[in-house]
Amino acid sequence: MTALPANIDDTLARLLQHDYVAERTLATTVFLALKLQRPLFLEGEPGTGKTEIAKTLAAMLGRPLIRLQCYEGLDLAGAAYEWNYPRQMMEIRLAEAGGADREQLGRDLFSDRFLIRRALLQAIAPDQPQPPVLLIDELDRADEPFEAFLLEVLSDFQITIPELGTVKAPAPPIVVLTSNRTREIHDAVKRRCLYHWVGFPDAQREARILAQRVPGAPERLSAEIVAFIQGLREIELYKLPGVAETIEWTRALMTLDAVALDPQTVSQTLGVLLKYQDDIAKVQGGEVARLLQQVRDAAAAPG
Ligand SMILES: Nc1ncnc2c1ncn2[C@@H]1O[C@H](COP(=O)(O)OP(=O)(O)O)[C@@H](O)[C@H]1O
Ligand SMILES: [Mg+2]
Repeated sequence: MTALPANIDDTLARLLQHDYVAERTLATTVFLALKLQRPLFLEGEPGTGKTEIAKTLAAMLGRPLIRLQCYEGLDLAGAAYEWNYPRQMMEIRLAEAGGADREQLGRDLFSDRFLIRRALLQAIAPDQPQPPVLLIDELDRADEPFEAFLLEVLSDFQITIPELGTVKAPAPPIVVLTSNRTREIHDAVKRRCLYHWVGFPDAQREARILAQRVPGAPERLSAEIVAFIQGLREIELYKLPGVAETIEWTRALMTLDAVALDPQTVSQTLGVLLKYQDDIAKVQGGEVARLLQQVRDAAAAPG
């Protein structure tokens, strides 16, 4: 079993060993969440490394990752458990044919055998060698009533199944909740968690992330990409590119054998960075030229 990090520096170093370049404030919150056994609530723009932190923690601590992807209409059956209805029906038919005892059948039908375990129940199952990392991803996509149910799970790490009894985790899982903030998450959920806003990285950190994730990228190309994207994020757009897009764009430009940015290549690959036609139209031409000039000026500036 891999031990928890000893302090904030250790947290930063171990995240980095797994190619995650964290801000010090994020490493602090992660460290505290692990030590205090509190859920970690990460909110921020898409593509800024929220989901990735859960994957990285699982790898770094040698724990299994259990992921609950939230969506509209997600309910108890999708998140925690449901009874295997078709199998129960089959059992009833077989029992009828065999002339079985009704009471016994009733008990059998709601036993472990017919239970389908979804992410939340899996995460608190008592028979695991060590608690897993439970990722509750994009909670803002689920409906509000789901939060009330989640609140119960997060406070006691137990789920009561009326027909079976209460399932309780012997030790709490490491919980990471994420939200892209398409709506506000209820205060009661947030209060149970340690909160961190994951913003876009500054140029220095974005360059480090790029070096970590795309190690073979030409130096000049990487520097220009980071400077260009940092400038792009200052333009008012419907959807700003995240770190995921920076990485994608670098790979795309390397595929095209680019070693530096030029107006034509940038214009032709804007679709890797921007996914709305209005945003592309706004940036195409004048803004691309202006940003490229800015990139060149910054590179030429002393220091
Ligand atoms: N701080 C970071 N360090 C290393 N890679 C990062 C970082 N932030 C984002 N990434 C990269 O960006 C990709 C998208 O991040 P992801 O966690 O999916 O974003 P989201 O915030 O939407 O959940 C990841 O797969 C990872 O490669
Ligand atoms: Mg995500």
